Amino acid sequence: MWDPKQYNLFREARRRPFFDLLAQVKTAAPARVVDLGCGTGDLTLALGERWPAAEILGVDSSAAMLAEARANHASARVGFLQADLARVELPGPADVLFSNAALHWLDDHAGLLTHLAGLVASGGTLAFQIPANFDAPSHRRVEEVRALPRFAAALRDVRRGHAEPLAFYLDHLVGLGFVVEAWETTYLHVLPGDDAVLQWLLGTTLRPLVTTLGPEEATAFLDTLRPLLQSDYPARPYGTPFPFTRRFVVATRVPPS
Ligand SMILES: C[S@@+](CC[C@H](N)C(=O)[O-])C[C@H]1O[C@@H](n2cnc3c(N)ncnc32)[C@H](O)[C@@H]1O
Repeated sequence: MWDPKQYNLFREARRRPFFDLLAQVKTAAPARVVDLGCGTGDLTLALGERWPAAEILGVDSSAAMLAEARANHASARVGFLQADLARVELPGPADVLFSNAALHWLDDHAGLLTHLAGLVASGGTLAFQIPANFDAPSHRRVEEVRALPRFAAALRDVRRGHAEPLAFYLDHLVGLGFVVEAWETTYLHVLPGDDAVLQWLLGTTLRPLVTTLGPEEATAFLDTLRPLLQSDYPARPYGTPFPFTRRFVVATRVPPS
C-alpha cells in the first residue's frame, strides 16, 4: 500500500509547516536545541543548519525512525535519543524545544505542556506545530469506516491523534510563565496523482490502522474509504485540492526579573 514515490511528491507540502514554524523562532544563538518527535531526522538536520553552533538532540519513541536518523544524520553535534515525549528527560535545559507534527499523538496535553515547560531554559522557547484537521471530511471518513462492524473491534485500541484549541495552549503556557504567540493556518495543498488524499493519509493517519488490520482487512478498509474520499475531494485536471489546518505555538519562558 505504501508508495514512496507518491510520498515524496507530498514531501514539500509536509515540510512547509516546519519551516513556517521555524521562521517564527527568534532565538539567536541557542546552546541546546531539541527536536521532539524527530522521526527520521531529516528536519532535525535543518535545525542544525539554522543554528550551526548549537548542540542538537532529536527525540523519538520509534526505534525504526531513530535507526534511520542515526544512520543518516548523527554527528559530533547532532545526537538522537529514544524516549516517550510525555516523560523524556534531557541532559540539560533546552534553549529551543521544537516539535513538528508529533504532539498530536500524545494524550493529556495539559500534563504534556507542564512536563515540556520544565525542560525549557530560562529565556528559552518551546515551539510546536500540530495538525488540526481532525474535523475535516478526510478524518471523519476514516472514523466512519473505522466504526463499521467489520473493522470496529480490531481497531478499538488504535490511538487517534488530537489537537486542543489554540486558547488551551495559550492559557496553559501563560500560566506556566511563558509569553505566547499562537496561530492557525489552513494550507490548500494541491496533491498530484490518483487517489491523492488516500495516499496522503496512508503516510500518517492510516498507518497505525492499516498495520493493525493486516493485508486482507486493510485492503477491504481502503476499498471502502477510497470512494468516500473521491467524492469529498474531487480530482481536478491540475490535481486534488486538499485543505489542511495546522496549529502553531511559539512560547518563550520569561526570565525571572
Ligand atoms: C509525523 S512524524 C513527524 C516527524 C518529523 N518531526 C517531521 O516533521 O517530519 C511523528 C513522529 O512522532 C513520533 N512520536 C509519536 N508519539 C511519540 C511519543 N509519545 N514519544 C516520542 N515520539 C513520538 C513518531 O514516532 C514519529 O516519528
